[in-house]
Formats: sequence, structure tokens, C-alpha cells
Amino acid sequence: MGLLEGISTRRSIREFVDQPVEREQVLQIIKAGTWAPSGLNNQPWRFVIVQNADVKKELGKQTKYGFVIERAPVCIAVFVDRTVMYNDVKDHQAMGACIQNMLLATHALGLGAVWLGEILKNAEAVRTLLGLPNEMELMAVVALGHPKTQKPSSNRKAVSEVLLKEL
Ligand SMILES: Cc1cc2nc3c(=O)[nH]c(=O)nc-3n(C[C@H](O)[C@H](O)[C@H](O)COP(=O)(O)O)c2cc1C
Repeated sequence: MGLLEGISTRRSIREFVDQPVEREQVLQIIKAGTWAPSGLNNQPWRFVIVQNADVKKELGKQTKYGFVIERAPVCIAVFVDRTVMYNDVKDHQAMGACIQNMLLATHALGLGAVWLGEILKNAEAVRTLLGLPNEMELMAVVALGHPKTQKPSSNRKAVSEVLLKEL
């Protein structure tokens, strides 16, 4: 799959078959996240892999998308390490690039994933649940696995709608 094709064919996957994901693939997905660009190359991302059913159940209680977390064989909680940040906006932008890389890598491996952000309303509870210090700020939970359903459809505005000007 070419990069451009992967970008446009990636979809958010919220249903998974009951099949484990190889640990090597999970590590590949995290590695892809770490190849994102970051300001000053400060690489502020940190990850927690959650596969334990009891922990996933507790994690799922922190979002209305808990059903996705509970059904996903693997969840990766993605944090920014505030101790290495140098600029709020730029570090958060880097985290978005990291998470998008993870989604694209998941797709390239033939797996499916969804970026869960609604859970951020309970970021502190998630941090405590996972036993992490204050400096770790939750950015997203990526739920992933082997896709169950046919690829959902999605749409995007035409470039002509979002292009403000050409000078
Ligand atoms: C910052 C952010 C937060 C998101 N939060 C959620 C979420 O909490 N639950 C969910 O099901 N999808 C979530 N999504 C996925 C979007 O709903 C999805 O990307 C969008 O509808 C476009 O669909 P597509 O990814 O299949 O192209 C989130 C995406 C982003 C970028």
C-alpha cells in the first residue's frame, strides 16, 4: 500500500473480531508513532499498552465509547510527558502527528483502529488508573484490533471548499 493510498483509505474502526494482535505489531505501531516529527525533536510521547480485560473494563468506564475499548484486544493510551515539553501548542501538535502515524501504521498492517478523544474529559482518572505521575497528560486512547465490519464509509470536504486563497 502506498502512503497516499493509505492516508485516504484509513477509516476509524470501532468493531473488532475476537483475535489477538501480535505483540510485535503493537510495538511496530508505537514505533511508527515515535517517527512523527516533534519540535526540537523532543519526542514528548509516552505510551501504555492495555490488554488486560479488567483494566480495559475500568478504562472503558471513563468514556461513553467504553464499548469500543472493551471489545478491542489492544488499547494504547498515549500521553505527553510535560517534563520535556517546551511549547504547549507545538508539543500538542507533535502528539497529533504521533497518533496519526499510529493509525496509519495500524492500517498498513491490515489492522483497524480508532482515535478516542472523548475520554479526555476523565484524563486524570485514566492517569491514576494506569498508575502514572502528574506529568503524564493523556492525549488519546487508540483502540485497535482485527476489523470486524466492512470498512465504514467517510467523507471529506472538497479541496475547493477548504482552500481559502491562492496568491
Ligand atoms: C481528536 C479526535 C478525537 C476523536 N475522538 C473519538 C471518540 O472519542 N470516539 C470515536 O468513536 N471516534 C473519535 N474520533 C474519530 C473520528 O470520529 C473520526 O476520525 C471521524 O469521524 C472521521 O472518520 P474516519 O476516521 O473514519 O475518516 C476522534 C478523532 C479525533 C481526531
